[in-house]
Amino acid sequence: MSQVGLCVVSVVTILISQWLYKWRNPKCNGVRPPGSMGLPFIGETFQLLIPNYSLDLHPFIKKIIEKYGKVFSTNLVGRPMVITADPKLNNYLIQQEGREVELWYLDTFQKVFGLEGEARPNAVVQIHKYVRGSYLNFFGVDRLRTKLLPEIETTVRINMHRWSTQGTTDAKKETANMVAIFAAKTLFGHDFEKSSDDIGITIAGFVEGLLSFPLNIPGTKFYKCMKDKDKLEKVIRAKLKERIACPEEKKGDFLDQAVKDLNTDFFLTENFILSIIVGALFATVESISTAIALSFKLFAEHPWVVEDLVAEHDILLKNRENKESPLTWDEYKSMTVTMHVINEVLRLGNVAPGILRKTLKDINYNGYTIPAGWAIMIVNSTLQLNPDVFKDLLKFNPKRWKDIDPQIASKNFMPFGGGTRQCAGAELAKSFFAIFLHVLVSEYRCVSHLFHIS
Ligand code: HEM
Repeated sequence: MSQVGLCVVSVVTILISQWLYKWRNPKCNGVRPPGSMGLPFIGETFQLLIPNYSLDLHPFIKKIIEKYGKVFSTNLVGRPMVITADPKLNNYLIQQEGREVELWYLDTFQKVFGLEGEARPNAVVQIHKYVRGSYLNFFGVDRLRTKLLPEIETTVRINMHRWSTQGTTDAKKETANMVAIFAAKTLFGHDFEKSSDDIGITIAGFVEGLLSFPLNIPGTKFYKCMKDKDKLEKVIRAKLKERIACPEEKKGDFLDQAVKDLNTDFFLTENFILSIIVGALFATVESISTAIALSFKLFAEHPWVVEDLVAEHDILLKNRENKESPLTWDEYKSMTVTMHVINEVLRLGNVAPGILRKTLKDINYNGYTIPAGWAIMIVNSTLQLNPDVFKDLLKFNPKRWKDIDPQIASKNFMPFGGGTRQCAGAELAKSFFAIFLHVLVSEYRCVSHLFHIS
């Protein structure tokens, strides 16, 4: 090899070694939490994306905690990250929104809306206020009480009737389809009885693929997800255009309000409204269907829980004057056993396995420094799996909720997050789940055999 060639190889080797050193030892003004940064570019993404089939912590997170402790460093899709399963740090971080941490996906907001420099923090607050306000208005207690409760009940009844006429039913797919049907009607007035497309299935496919590895090549789940997203956006955009052309034709859905707000603020564009709707579809469909599907597995293994539910709903129906009338808000609020079941499914379900944030400044904790600009995954489920509060922690036992002090529960049970970013769809999720259980146990028997559980 010529001397020039040798020089080039040496320089390249030095540069690669330096880069690898920096990859493995990212800059930190202190001692960063222990942990491996994984492979170049992909970090430990694959280990984290392995599905968790148990009710316990994710196997990768469990293994690393055993090795390094409850706060550790890693790398996810090329971004350095700290994962924390430390309840004290988790509670602290959840309360630090806008001060020491901010939502991680706001990187994407910045790119999409061109929010740079000084305008950004203000704009982020404005956008968050609008999105949160819209969701709370649309899916909050008032609207559930006055409008959505009977709509949920009708959707559940129609779908469950269809399932009961099928041989076997895939619990996750069918519940996702059912929630998608409700969400699409409520958000953009999609009428399933009149339309011939399978938008429920498209939405369910899109949502499922979003949680896969983001490799956009034919044959992958993610590729199909992107195709479903295109299809979905086409349908929603067409509805949006129709509504903009005839704003007086109100349907009582989210689009009515969105079209009214259009262009009243710099970020309220057609594309933004489209992304809020797609975001709401994701938030609604994946979370509710995961919880309901898991409940079937747990019911099959614990039939006494179904008996307790049947007893509660039999009494509810006996006390009702008009047996044919839809479920009322007061009836929903009176369902104590049902709420204990829902809490217990959410406790074990790990529906939102991690809350993501980005650090705005260096954060010092227990002698470690989490550098500014790093991502943080707050593993909230460690709270729900605290053996000091939840005896026999992996056991599905809704009765435990009878004896738990509400104050202790509020500090140790946060399936919907906390602080200023607490879930805006919590009441919708709980009421959907409760109505689902109501229809199931009051109109069907042998419920544990209704579904094929895979
Ligand atoms: C079992 C069901 C659900 C669970 C376990 C759940 C969980 C969560 C969690 C943990 C957060 C906090 C995320 C963070 O701090 O970054 C969150 C936020 C959020 N959730 Fe849910 N969620 C559920 C259902 C829903 C539904 C049905 C909707 C639909 C409207 C929804 C809409 C939202 C929104 C908009 C936020 C962001 C709030 C904000 O940033 O102000 N969620 N959810």
